[in-house]
Amino acid sequence: MWNRDMLSRVTVFMLWLLFSSWVFSVSATVSYDSKAIIINGRRRILLSGSIHYPRSTPQMWPDLIAKAKEGGLDVIQTYVFWNGHEPSPGKYYFDDRYDLVRFIKLVQQAGLYVHLRIGPYVCAEWNFGGFPVWLKYVPGIVFRTDNGPFKVENFDYLIAAMQKFTEKIVSMMKAEKLFQTQGGPIIMSQIENEFGPVEWEIGAPGKAYTKWAAQMAVGLGTGVPWIMCKQDDAPDPVINTCNGFYCENFTPNAKYKPKMWTENWTGWFTEFGGAVPTRPAEDIAFSVARFIQNGGSFVNYYMYHGGTNFGRTAGGPFIATSYDYDAPIDEYGLPREPKWGHLRDLHKAIKLSEPALVSADPTVTSLGSNQEAHVFKAKSGACAAFLANYDTKYSVKVTFGNVQYDLPAWSISILPDCKTAVFNTARLGAQSSQKKMVPVNSAFSWQSYNEESPSADDQDATVKDGLLEQIYVTRDASDYLWYMTDVQIDPNEGFLTSGQDPSLTIWSAGHALHVFINGQLSGTAYGELDNPKLTFSKNVKLRAGINKISLLSIAVGLPNVGVHFETWNAGVLGPVTLKGLNEGSRDLSKQKWSYKIGLKGEALSLHTVTGSSSVEWVKGSLLVKKQPMTWYKTTFNAPGGNEPLALDMSSMGKGQIWINGQSIGRHWPGYIARGACGACDYAGTYSDKKCRTNCGEPSQRWYHVPRSWLNPSGNLMVVFEEWGGDPSGISLVKRTTGSVCADIFEAQPTMKNWGMLASGKINRPKAHLWCPPGQKISEIKFASYGIPEGTCGSFSEGSCHAHRSYDAFQKNCIGKQSCSVTVAPEVFGGDPCPDSMKKLSVEAACN
Ligand code: GAL
Repeated sequence: MWNRDMLSRVTVFMLWLLFSSWVFSVSATVSYDSKAIIINGRRRILLSGSIHYPRSTPQMWPDLIAKAKEGGLDVIQTYVFWNGHEPSPGKYYFDDRYDLVRFIKLVQQAGLYVHLRIGPYVCAEWNFGGFPVWLKYVPGIVFRTDNGPFKVENFDYLIAAMQKFTEKIVSMMKAEKLFQTQGGPIIMSQIENEFGPVEWEIGAPGKAYTKWAAQMAVGLGTGVPWIMCKQDDAPDPVINTCNGFYCENFTPNAKYKPKMWTENWTGWFTEFGGAVPTRPAEDIAFSVARFIQNGGSFVNYYMYHGGTNFGRTAGGPFIATSYDYDAPIDEYGLPREPKWGHLRDLHKAIKLSEPALVSADPTVTSLGSNQEAHVFKAKSGACAAFLANYDTKYSVKVTFGNVQYDLPAWSISILPDCKTAVFNTARLGAQSSQKKMVPVNSAFSWQSYNEESPSADDQDATVKDGLLEQIYVTRDASDYLWYMTDVQIDPNEGFLTSGQDPSLTIWSAGHALHVFINGQLSGTAYGELDNPKLTFSKNVKLRAGINKISLLSIAVGLPNVGVHFETWNAGVLGPVTLKGLNEGSRDLSKQKWSYKIGLKGEALSLHTVTGSSSVEWVKGSLLVKKQPMTWYKTTFNAPGGNEPLALDMSSMGKGQIWINGQSIGRHWPGYIARGACGACDYAGTYSDKKCRTNCGEPSQRWYHVPRSWLNPSGNLMVVFEEWGGDPSGISLVKRTTGSVCADIFEAQPTMKNWGMLASGKINRPKAHLWCPPGQKISEIKFASYGIPEGTCGSFSEGSCHAHRSYDAFQKNCIGKQSCSVTVAPEVFGGDPCPDSMKKLSVEAACN
């Protein structure tokens, strides 16, 4: 029997249970107010970086995350890639590079948060913007609008539209207890992606869809906030956020929402045929400081590590295989210096200022015609100041709190105590480094196999009247679709005797085309990012009787952006005409065409060990070189060491590469980068066309080979070459540090000097140089104390140079892994120009 005492004890226990569960849930909340995201009751300034899990290997993940943490990030942001997870309706895949749960748990283990951008539309230069291609063929579907089949109303249970996939991901995260409210790392999610501009174009159905998407997401009860980026009308409680190179003028759509920046582009993506964009670290740091000084509280670097579009995951068309993005961690997983280190120092300065930033609104005062101070003064006494110089040309001295501060052009100094400048966005304190690609194996013994062009009467070809859209036929199972037809030429045709060959004109919606006449490659045409359409027009050799015309149409990544991009076509849509015949011109578009999806070599799985042994390859003197449509294979041993590896494909044209059955991606070094490249001044508004490299060279020469895809010996490498290349020019290279540089101003604010500066001691910065483990400083390639010019790798002496600039480095550094030298006149034999602000630039070779 229960007595009173027992009952009251049970009641107390129950109350305690209730209380403790309440305490527990209170202790794991994520909310927000006008200032910031609030995690467990604390407003936070959050620094975040995008790392897309399928763009690296699971073996790389722990190190990438560790480097992100060391770089001062609090959050890892990733999209969720629907087409990787649901390759066919209802068949899910979450293994290997698509092991989303494993990725999130690794982030959690590192003690970082996750911002999960479910989309499921993601853009991201990813094939079809993340949508599975089968989705396009769901009857009645229209993407990203108020459309039943797209949103939810699918009566066929196998078909998953947006809601079903979003639910699937959310319930998976819940089952693994990955939301912050469950003790997991996910503090925020995202629905849709930059839908605002699309809504603006499509009007009412777009507005209805936005409302629906927000309600649907919020209804999933994740317990953490949802955001919509570039969506000014994001309905409450969803937070609208900013994407761009700058976001300081952004304001959210309600006073009670924080000012957040979900994509600060750290560079830009590379397209085949385009120059390679880079963005100076000084400008990124400036943009971040400018956002924070205007009350911003969340900044995400898109990308922090860009990685690689392995396989056929690149969007486009024409997005390159490398998605390096000039990000702070390079494609290979190595810190890109000075960007990584400069942003790390910026993050430290912001974190030192956090107590003031989260508790006060900034007071803005003018310090000059183009200069301002933003001061955050909290009731607690905490004070942080940002001193900004927006001038794009001139550095200025400003006075703030009776102290003088030097502000270089286009820069912001951060004073976490309103007194001491610990960081200036334009002063690179971090060491920079130059990477080099060192060949480790160039002597592969190649074998070749010829991919014959098929013909219209092949048994396994499908025959149709007229020309068909490419993706409709291939469902993107392959880049390749053959269009084949026969052309009858009468023996009385005038051109047969006049020698005036008829001209063949082919209009294609893209993206690339090889034209074969009677088995011979007659020519190639291809489009470009801004205009994937192409026209092939050429005089062709035809003979009396039947002529076989085989067109190999190639899709180079499906579009990932644009209003209703799902309706954009690919392939030979015609007309296809032959001019210069007795009859004048003949339209071939409506006649019978035969279709074949993919290559013979693909059907045979030549990229695999078993597949590749199913055909006869030739080698030695019989090896075929510089011939289009050729497969090459070789085996090789993995090089020792742990440096990242890549293939130098500069001797090849266009095609695809596999190692041990894994697709390295599309290669296209034959597509030379157009456009203007030139000197890049960090100061002034950045755009993706401003600072570019590789003009006149291949857009992409090197292709990342993840170490974890290699066995110690007997690795099978297979290359399919469309254009004709010389495989003997292919080499396996390792990525190592070529040289390291320090580029440092006298009297420069640095984090290391924080203690000294705060205690009023003189600021004498040190130049630190260090080579990676296993490498030593072998040579001082350049040293100048004075007013040197240029950047790491291209320094030169300027108008002022101390004649003993090299000495201290020669003495202290050669033969060592690391060294440091104080930047002061006496160290370099005296002050070479006493009235000027001097700096030291030094470059040392690592070997
Ligand atoms: C944004 C988009 C990203 C990515 C980026 C360019 O507009 O949200 O997914 O495509 O542009 O790299």
